[in-house]
Amino acid sequence: MSESVLITYATRYGSTKEVAEKIAQILIHDEFEVEVLPCKKVDTIEQYQFIVIGAPYYIGGMLKDAKNFLLRNQDMLSKKPVAFFALGPIGETEKELTETQNQLDKELKQFPWFKPISTVMFGGKYNPKKLRLLDKFLTLPPASPLHNLAANDARNWEDIKNWAEKITASLISIKNPSIQ
Ligand SMILES: Cc1cc2nc3c(=O)[nH]c(=O)nc-3n(C[C@H](O)[C@H](O)[C@H](O)COP(=O)(O)O)c2cc1C
Repeated sequence: MSESVLITYATRYGSTKEVAEKIAQILIHDEFEVEVLPCKKVDTIEQYQFIVIGAPYYIGGMLKDAKNFLLRNQDMLSKKPVAFFALGPIGETEKELTETQNQLDKELKQFPWFKPISTVMFGGKYNPKKLRLLDKFLTLPPASPLHNLAANDARNWEDIKNWAEKITASLISIKNPSIQ
């Protein structure tokens, strides 16, 4: 029987959605039925065996839709296997990635019941020309890390593919413990 997997994401500009869709392509496998939905459209996760959650980082924290999703589904998320990915740093340095990774580790401590089988931080995508007004304002002060920052897409698709394959392998072994 096919197990069903929900890949759910929060997004403001669509880059996390694209990563969720990429992960879905890799997870779609004879063993799984995969559904990709925005966090705010998910009423219940009861029918899914596995959950993958994606959240972009904004001003040092995960986007609210993702946080609300965690809070709303605490009971079931603490009982089902969950994998979590975040998108953040726009620069390509290891330092930026580590900084946001540390912020994420700290933020996830607010949810002590949340124990993903895997958590990962990927680079994000940024285009100053497409920002909403409020985000545009945030880039104006010279002290802002976004001030005069050029457009960039720091998503490493090879890393994303590797992570999705790792998750697929974990889910298969959770589903069929005897084939480990
Ligand atoms: C206003 C603004 C604030 C951001 N704040 C952070 C941040 O605090 N840490 C970080 O790593 N990335 C930050 N980012 C980068 C986003 O996480 C990145 O652009 C991500 O890919 C956006 O995802 P989305 O397209 O799914 O909304 C910020 C981007 C914007 C536009």
